[in-house]
Amino acid sequence: MTKKHIETTLVNAGRGKRYTQGAVNSVIQRASSLVFDSVEAKKHATANRANGELFYGRRGTLTHFSLQEAMCELEGGAGCALFPCGAAAVANTILAFVEQGDRVLMTNTAYEPSQDFCTRVLSRLGVSTTWFDPLIGEDIATLITPDTRVVFLESPGSITMEVHDVPAIVRAVRSKAPQAIIIIDNTWSAGVLFKALEHGVDISIQAGTKYLVGHSDAMIGTAVANARCWEQLRENAYLMGQMADADTAYVTSRGLRTLAVRLRQHEESSVALARWLAQQPLVEQVNHPALPQCPGHKYWQRDFTGSSGLFSFILKKRLDDRELARFLDNFSYFTMAYSWGGYESLILACQPEELAAIRPQGRRAISGTLVRLHIGLENVEDLLKDLAAGLARIA
Ligand SMILES: Cc1ncc(COP(=O)(O)O)c(C=O)c1O
Repeated sequence: MTKKHIETTLVNAGRGKRYTQGAVNSVIQRASSLVFDSVEAKKHATANRANGELFYGRRGTLTHFSLQEAMCELEGGAGCALFPCGAAAVANTILAFVEQGDRVLMTNTAYEPSQDFCTRVLSRLGVSTTWFDPLIGEDIATLITPDTRVVFLESPGSITMEVHDVPAIVRAVRSKAPQAIIIIDNTWSAGVLFKALEHGVDISIQAGTKYLVGHSDAMIGTAVANARCWEQLRENAYLMGQMADADTAYVTSRGLRTLAVRLRQHEESSVALARWLAQQPLVEQVNHPALPQCPGHKYWQRDFTGSSGLFSFILKKRLDDRELARFLDNFSYFTMAYSWGGYESLILACQPEELAAIRPQGRRAISGTLVRLHIGLENVEDLLKDLAAGLARIA
């Protein structure tokens, strides 16, 4: 049979008979304790506890196995670890591979709590961090030292949306540090728009809280690993007590079924609004990976199959507190909230000094206020009118 298209994978993955038991969706199997019918059954479950046999709640139930199988098919991995949220996935995945004396190389555009995990927690364990510019490409080789153990990417970068040249980074790391594990926070692409493992990355992490769940009502983290890393990730996550509950695993699987159509609409509307914003006199720059002015746009064009709904733009001026409140407090459809990836549109602003504070050794200073948008599934003309009225309030 020819290779399936992604929409078909998303509808069908993880829906084998063992999981659905005659229904369309997987069963919701809530369990801490799983019952063994005989000594022999207990022995079998114990021997195969890491290979999809029902053993103990923390190892997962049929609901979790269904989601894990689907995520492996989606992202092309050997296994998928589940976590209670995206931040737990980031922290525990790094922790699974480092020991005292090791070094993590992390993009300085990583999500702020990912950075804080390195500076506040790993540093206490004797693991140091070196920051790199998201557009470093093959020059990452100059930062690699014998103690480099983890290279952590996030593309596009948080807030400023720079796209990495992942293949160049992977080539440089593989040739100079074969011991290093390459991890990416792949949340923006939902594992659909950028095939991290096919591009040579070892582990693709998602805050499934965002697009996988898609409705802003549950939190989960996923980490899909290749065969080289799966066992170590799986056993460390288990020892750290990391799992999601069955109900959340279920709504995450349900989110997968509509992910392709949701992403298509997020992309269509976000590109239309990004192009419109790029023509507005108050706007200095639009950081949307699909627009040529976004740093790393050419890598997005080469390596991604589309874009999702999150991007940012920089105003020519820095809004003062009153202007900022007048701008942000009066939108009809854009609400202010941090977590994105749901069906609703969102807006947040970030002042230049706030941005500078979360860009360790950053080289690109901005002078105007940055606005981050998540474009939801509302009608795009309504959103455009809302944005136009917002810009008029600060003209
Ligand atoms: C890129 C990115 N990674 C990770 C996370 C953390 O996810 P969670 O909120 O599920 O812990 C977020 C949350 O905003 C995020 O934006």
